[in-house]
Amino acid sequence: MKAVTWQGRRKISVEDVPDPKIEEPTDAIVRITSTAICGSDLHLYEVLGPYMRAGDVLGHEPMGIVEEIGGDVRNLRVGDRVVIPFQISCGSCVMCSTGLMTQCETTQVREHGSGAALFGYSELYGSVPGGQAQYLRVPHADFTHIKVPAEAGDQRYLYLSDVLPTAWQAVEYAAIPEGGSVTVLGLGPIGDMACRVAAHRGHRVIGVDLVPERLARVAARGVEVVDLSAVDGSLGDVIRAQTAGRGTDAVIDAVGMEAHGSPAGALAHRSAALLPDSVAQKVMDTAGIDRMAALDDAIDIVRRGGTLSLVGVYGGMADPLPMRTLFDKQIQLRMGQANVKRWAPDILPLLGDDDPLGVDSFATHRLPLSEAPRAYEIFQQKQDGAVKIVLDPTA
Ligand SMILES: NC(=O)c1ccc[n+]([C@@H]2O[C@H](COP(=O)([O-])OP(=O)(O)OC[C@H]3O[C@@H](n4cnc5c(N)ncnc54)[C@H](O)[C@@H]3O)[C@@H](O)[C@H]2O)c1
Ligand SMILES: [Zn+2]
Ligand SMILES: [Zn+2]
Repeated sequence: MKAVTWQGRRKISVEDVPDPKIEEPTDAIVRITSTAICGSDLHLYEVLGPYMRAGDVLGHEPMGIVEEIGGDVRNLRVGDRVVIPFQISCGSCVMCSTGLMTQCETTQVREHGSGAALFGYSELYGSVPGGQAQYLRVPHADFTHIKVPAEAGDQRYLYLSDVLPTAWQAVEYAAIPEGGSVTVLGLGPIGDMACRVAAHRGHRVIGVDLVPERLARVAARGVEVVDLSAVDGSLGDVIRAQTAGRGTDAVIDAVGMEAHGSPAGALAHRSAALLPDSVAQKVMDTAGIDRMAALDDAIDIVRRGGTLSLVGVYGGMADPLPMRTLFDKQIQLRMGQANVKRWAPDILPLLGDDDPLGVDSFATHRLPLSEAPRAYEIFQQKQDGAVKIVLDPTA
């Protein structure tokens, strides 16, 4: 089959690889009909390179049709239409039972001290072949799927794999009071969807980014926006000026570790990329630091006693944090990978024909899988209006 593979820093290629097979009786094989590229894939593309091996199959936002099931799979039949969550979870351990599927005790990657195994997400998360491919092997398939109706195009349901539950969890964790306000930093697919979810729930939303078409997309849905590239001085001052001097009740950081405007972190990332993998892993496991511009802004913007919800991925092990400010402002901090199956039942009712979250028109590009290298490039470089790119393995 054809699959999108990681070959080196900023090097992606579509290769012929062996078709996946049932390896455990709890597996299923899914024929992929749509598979999206995520901002998280961009961390692999660059910063997390030391944890990747040439040939690793990427992708964790797939959906398709069940092609084959193992002997112990009870909840699926061949021909079912399914979305596959980005994390692999068993559904029955203590963590899964409390709605923390990204901490699944059955699939945790203990060797690296990581939570649940993720599709296509490096050695840190179990080196599981990903879903940017024609076929995908799904472990723990009885639970690691969301069945969706046969009607409506893939774009209606595809984002249940990641974008929707991630944005949803970001808003839940932000704990915005009734009628309250939230600043969303970063208007990539995750921040954009978080704005939509928060606005849908009646909150005041201020979105911040520096890419004109991303700002315009969110503004077109009635969200207030701040163009970071036009801010002269502190973003906190700009937000405070719009919120009676107080800051917003909550801030969602949908940027993460590769924030624009963090020279020290950027240098650390570039230096690590020049080291051999084994050495770079040690450096990142002990002394790695993130680019913290967005998190620093978040801490500044949030009102006293407010909540920070970090949904952008951080990976540093030695990040300097302004503990005095965090403590003094009495900030509540919540974060983590999204627990996809935890939120899917809440989101499904919003995926009807009235489409309140605008999922039908969410993708800016749908390209054949064979064009993945160009797709990654335009997504990373923010060219050609690329915000969300869906790859089509059937084209
Ligand atoms: N927690 C989870 O489960 C989960 C799931 C999916 C994605 N993520 C993470 O969420 C983040 C966003 O994902 P995405 O797909 O939207 O990616 P993206 O890279 O398209 O979006 C990031 C956006 O942040 C903007 N940005 C950069 N620096 C900024 C700054 N200092 N202030 C404000 N905006 C800034 C960029 O211009 C870009 O539009 C990534 O870190 C990704 O890894 C987390
Ligand atoms: Zn993703
Ligand atoms: Zn579990």
